[in-house]
Amino acid sequence: MNMDELKDVLTRYGQLQVLRFFDELDGCGRKKLLGQLEELDFASLDRLIKDYVLKKPDFKLPEKLDPAPFFPVNPRSEAEADYYRRAEEKGKEMLDAGKVAFLTVAGGQGTRLGYDGPKGTFPIAPVTGKSLFEIFAGRIARLGEKSGRKFSWYIMTSVVNHAQTVDFFRENKFFGLDEAQVFFFTQGTMPAVGYDGKLLLGSKNSLSLSPDGHGGTLLALRRSGALDKMKADGVKYLSYFQVDNPLAPMGDHRFIGLHVLENSEMSAITLSKTGPFEKLGNFCIADGKLAIIEYSDLPAELAESRNPDGSLRFVAGSPAIHVISRDFVERLTAGGELKLPYHRADKKVPFVNDCGELVKPETPNAVKLETFIFDALSLAEKTMVMEAVREDVFAPVKNASGVDSVESSRRMILSKNAAMLKSAGVDFPFGADGEPLARVELSVRKMADAEDVRDYVSRHGITRIEPGAEIFLD
Ligand code: UTP
Repeated sequence: MNMDELKDVLTRYGQLQVLRFFDELDGCGRKKLLGQLEELDFASLDRLIKDYVLKKPDFKLPEKLDPAPFFPVNPRSEAEADYYRRAEEKGKEMLDAGKVAFLTVAGGQGTRLGYDGPKGTFPIAPVTGKSLFEIFAGRIARLGEKSGRKFSWYIMTSVVNHAQTVDFFRENKFFGLDEAQVFFFTQGTMPAVGYDGKLLLGSKNSLSLSPDGHGGTLLALRRSGALDKMKADGVKYLSYFQVDNPLAPMGDHRFIGLHVLENSEMSAITLSKTGPFEKLGNFCIADGKLAIIEYSDLPAELAESRNPDGSLRFVAGSPAIHVISRDFVERLTAGGELKLPYHRADKKVPFVNDCGELVKPETPNAVKLETFIFDALSLAEKTMVMEAVREDVFAPVKNASGVDSVESSRRMILSKNAAMLKSAGVDFPFGADGEPLARVELSVRKMADAEDVRDYVSRHGITRIEPGAEIFLD
């Protein structure tokens, strides 16, 4: 597109303001801005702006909405117990055969945490201060040892944090993994749009761009060549988790096995919600298809509705942990395009005003448009949902303090480690409220599961932990 054509397009869609400092820019600045503008599909963007920015999209509750069925933690019959055993064998077999790879989404901006750096570099481990990335790397190394494999780890970054993320791995020598095991890929971006429908400039030579949501993973997997690499490596299943959950189950045998035995294309873990309004997505069957309805979209009367035994009807919450078949990603992205619905988020987005000054707004001034990976569930031919125990799998780090914070996440890691030691026969001190009275961090590099903890404890003759102890067991 030459300059005249570009100006025509911008005029047609009422976006010529993005060039208002163009004449002041040097060659590099002009190239950068033009590059960003050429990437945009203005016709689709214009439609999105009309539908999602200039008006608030109405959320239409599906006509028929029921709670989604799931495989419960405790099998309901002997036959189901037997099925779980077969699933566990199948999951292990898939790992041992090298058919599983790990996928972490780490492209988010971590605004709520307010930490200066990619979230994965945050020192979360309660005793050693190891980072989230180091925890996952350790677990992948240990799982690899157990399966006699060097598992691949796909990490999605964004343009904002890619370089810092890669540098962090280099500085830390990939935490003992081979460099070739780690494949970084970068997700797409979307421009922020002011409430008047105009694209914002983040600086005179750049649009205000932000990551396009974790739904961007699927297309980014194709565009980066990750899908081709998986195919060449014989990988069929992706164990997916978010970078901000240090307890995320990785390569869980039962979960992978059920995914395979159920011929599922995309599977999900569910937790029992702590109450009707907990801020987790709800697994529902919407017009016959599995879907996650966001907590803010589930009407109160449904959220509060109960079964005859008093339990919540919509009890199944989503901690965003999935197994995804590579074939499914191939199919969804076959035309190089992926149709996931957009979600609107109102944000405070810094922008350059008409005078060329950077303004940092105090209240939301713009819309960011994102797609969510869980919307792909409704596009799958077959899905599977499996319940897990919250304390085992979910310790999100979203906020600096309070709910889902650094502090609560560390507490959950310590509680889980204490429980694992207790199950391995160690005399562990707990208070009357059930909280551990010692701070013990287990090395993820050495102990990936209960079996590892039992072996470690017996090899090292650990029988008792003293109250008040602070220990790293490595
Ligand atoms: P969240 O939206 O919960 O966290 O993303 P965030 O974006 O890191 O933080 P806030 O909302 O700005 O405070 C959940 C997971 O999805 C990833 C995040 O990195 C996190 O692992 N994510 C989110 C992406 O990879 N890309 C995105 O565009 C958005």
